[in-house]
Amino acid sequence: MAATPKRVEHQLTDKGYVPVYATGIVEQPWNDYSETDHAVWAQLFARQNELLVGRACDEFLANQRRMGMTAERIPKFSELNAALARTTGWEIIGVEGLLPELDFFEHLANRRFPVTWWIRTPEQLDYLSEPDLFHDLYGHVPLLMEPVFADYMAAYGRGGVKAHGIGPEALTNLTRLYWYTVEFGLIRQHGDLRIYGAGVLSSKTESIYSLESAAPHRIGFDLERVMRAQYRIDTFQKTYFVIDGFAELMAATEPDFTPIYARLAGRPPIPAGEVGEGDAVIQRGTGEGFAEGGDV
Ligand code: PHE
Ligand code: FE
Repeated sequence: MAATPKRVEHQLTDKGYVPVYATGIVEQPWNDYSETDHAVWAQLFARQNELLVGRACDEFLANQRRMGMTAERIPKFSELNAALARTTGWEIIGVEGLLPELDFFEHLANRRFPVTWWIRTPEQLDYLSEPDLFHDLYGHVPLLMEPVFADYMAAYGRGGVKAHGIGPEALTNLTRLYWYTVEFGLIRQHGDLRIYGAGVLSSKTESIYSLESAAPHRIGFDLERVMRAQYRIDTFQKTYFVIDGFAELMAATEPDFTPIYARLAGRPPIPAGEVGEGDAVIQRGTGEGFAEGGDV
């Protein structure tokens, strides 16, 4: 595994020169956040926290509180890291944006979660096409303090390194698993559905849509089914997969995926909005508003 690189360079960004480590890791330029940056964080945080009571899984809000993440100001990575170090041993590292796949997997395998340091502008409150600080930090980081989920993320990183060595088809299968769990996963809790996926937790509209709209399908999690499922990067998901608990997710992904990749190779993918014969359908969606084409 690559160790955290230490070579520092400086890169000119719209925050002035910030130190950039060899692989694109940056120190969080906390003192350079503007009042507007803090205000965007505060507004998004307050809006989501209000919305997510009764919608997010219990562990999300509990750990958010426990790690001291508040609306008041953009959290300092160093402060959150102290809380993470005391619990699951995860660490947040600052990055400019998306990393090469293998770097990302190696960070996760070593319990380092890359967080984009910059935050969206007030004009982008509801939508932007790449992950920013709000998505990465607000959406992903609280569950890194949840022991079973924390282990799942590290196991995913190790699995990513392995899939990368196997080939592009294996990587596609694994990426779908990430998408439908870490980013868009739903979980059964209190006899109801709740959100644990960061892509949903960090979106006002999708946190309502994923649980309340009659349009999308909601299907019980099945590993191979999920690995075959195409998804959307441009609209709400057409299908959400539901786990019974993090322990179930952990157990289902425990086996070696190598024979599964081999078995799935050459089998056609399942379109994002399709419900199949053997699916454990919880709610069959009406499909209303589904866009034609565009699955990835
Ligand atoms: N068990 C998987 C493998 O052998 C690794 C993995 C674990 C992947 C958890 C994703 C999530 O590749
Ligand atoms: Fe994400």
